[in-house]
Amino acid sequence: MEKSKQRVCVIGAGPSGIAAIKNIRDKGIEVQAFDFNHDVGGNWIYSESASHSSVFETTHIISSKSLSQYEDFPFPEGVADYPSHTELRTYFQAYAKHFNLYPFIQFNTLVKHCARLDENLWEVTIEKNGEEAKEIFTDLVVCNGHHWQPKYPDYPGTFTGEFLHSHMYKKAAPFAAKKVLVIGGGNSACDVAVETSRISEKTAISWRRGYRILPKFLMGKPSDVFASSMIFLPISIRNFLAGILVRLATGPNEMYGLPKVKHKFGATHPTVNSELLYKIRHGKVKPKGDIERFEGKTVHFKDGSSELFDVVIACTGYVLAHPFFAKDFLNYSEGPVPLYLKMFHPTYANLFFVGMFQPLGCIWPGAEQQSKLAALALSGEWQRPSNIKYLCEREVTHPHMNQIVTSRHTITVDFHKFIRDLKRQIKSARFIKKVS
Ligand SMILES: Cc1cc2nc3c(=O)[nH]c(=O)nc-3n(C[C@H](O)[C@H](O)[C@H](O)COP(=O)(O)OP(=O)(O)OC[C@H]3O[C@@H](n4cnc5c(N)ncnc54)[C@H](O)[C@@H]3O)c2cc1C
Ligand SMILES: NC(=O)c1ccc[n+]([C@@H]2O[C@H](COP(=O)([O-])OP(=O)(O)OC[C@H]3O[C@@H](n4cnc5c(N)ncnc54)[C@H](OP(=O)(O)O)[C@@H]3O)[C@@H](O)[C@H]2O)c1
Repeated sequence: MEKSKQRVCVIGAGPSGIAAIKNIRDKGIEVQAFDFNHDVGGNWIYSESASHSSVFETTHIISSKSLSQYEDFPFPEGVADYPSHTELRTYFQAYAKHFNLYPFIQFNTLVKHCARLDENLWEVTIEKNGEEAKEIFTDLVVCNGHHWQPKYPDYPGTFTGEFLHSHMYKKAAPFAAKKVLVIGGGNSACDVAVETSRISEKTAISWRRGYRILPKFLMGKPSDVFASSMIFLPISIRNFLAGILVRLATGPNEMYGLPKVKHKFGATHPTVNSELLYKIRHGKVKPKGDIERFEGKTVHFKDGSSELFDVVIACTGYVLAHPFFAKDFLNYSEGPVPLYLKMFHPTYANLFFVGMFQPLGCIWPGAEQQSKLAALALSGEWQRPSNIKYLCEREVTHPHMNQIVTSRHTITVDFHKFIRDLKRQIKSARFIKKVS
């Protein structure tokens, strides 16, 4: 049978997808991308109605600008240290225009199903304007994002007030003069609690354990920039020093009525927020412990207290979801995720993931390096290691850092080490090319 012409399908045109399209196109390889949205930007296309995006009216990133840009396309002058969602959407769309990526993206097109054919090809079923079509590709690059499918908590009893997940929280205005309970200690929960506390009758935040709250600035510098002055040190020492710095900057959680932190720095995904502790000390946000059960509009807490609320906002994170794969083919929703460099599948050489990792920092610079490596693999300049199955397993058994066992910690990487590891592979590929 005649060998099929190489044709790569990219699913998604968010920050990861556009980096994939650009770098694969740079190798002269044919690419077709699909996105069910109407433009480039993914999570960063804020919308007041339900959509793929989980950002809200007031979202600014938590990784600062100098560590949150593509190496091939720096931010323009004048962007804030922590850009807003609007500045980011503009940036991603400018990237797509600059590298002329729009002609390779079909918008308003949902990828419904991806199936492997015998000849080692992918049959991709798409839907546009209610009509289905099938297209054949040699390779599949998955960039569908991992912060859009809500993960809901499950408590005994029923809450009869308004209950929503942070994915559906868009702005504080609807919660004016209401009694709001926010669940979670991640960045969504802390951002949401700060925002609702400005106009609610009361806002409480429920944590099931203690978390460190990192300020956005240390010694006048964005905290990630300050921390990156220590990258020559091993991760464990860096994390130890960072823990001390945060303790010096904010003091212990108990001073704020928050649960004590019982884990080392880095053992949970960082929560970066300069306003939550301030709001707590101004009596605007009330700290609460874990929830025991719901009863009508009353929430009973494990410490024996109970309070009435009009609204519960569950900021309890997201599920890794790939609805276009059959569940028995691939399902990472419960972990583990055995992919080499969080992108290469142990068995299928024509399947790639880009952006499916959680750094203690920004996603798209890592997605850019993954895209460069994927492009080299697709062009044949980089070879999959012969022990790739072992390397995939090793990603699971030897994570970059030891984190507490909870469902949100299956794909964590150290930002600096991850980029270094990817660049090392990219360099080795170039070397192969030079000598061949
Ligand atoms: C509130 C919030 C704030 C965040 N802040 C930061 C931050 O400060 N720094 C950081 O690095 N990260 C942050 N993130 C994480 C966020 O996931 C990344 O910033 C970034 O959006 C990841 O890019 P992506 O392209 O991988 O995924 P996404 O941005 O989610 O893009 C995925 C794209 O795939 C498309 N798609 C999905 N499924 C299909 C399908 N079946 N068919 C067709 N198209 C499909 C979507 O329409 C979308 O355009 C934040 C997340 C949230 C929710
Ligand atoms: N401003 C910003 O840039 C910004 C804003 C929002 C989000 N983000 C990013 O978006 C991503 C998702 O963040 P997120 O905050 O939505 O989710 P997240 O990081 O997964 O945090 C979820 C929080 O909910 C808790 N939780 C989960 N299930 C629970 C349950 N059943 N009962 C009680 N608590 C529960 C988790 O506790 P455990 O620790 O025990 O699991 C954790 O504290 C992250 O990458 C984050 O950095 C960034």
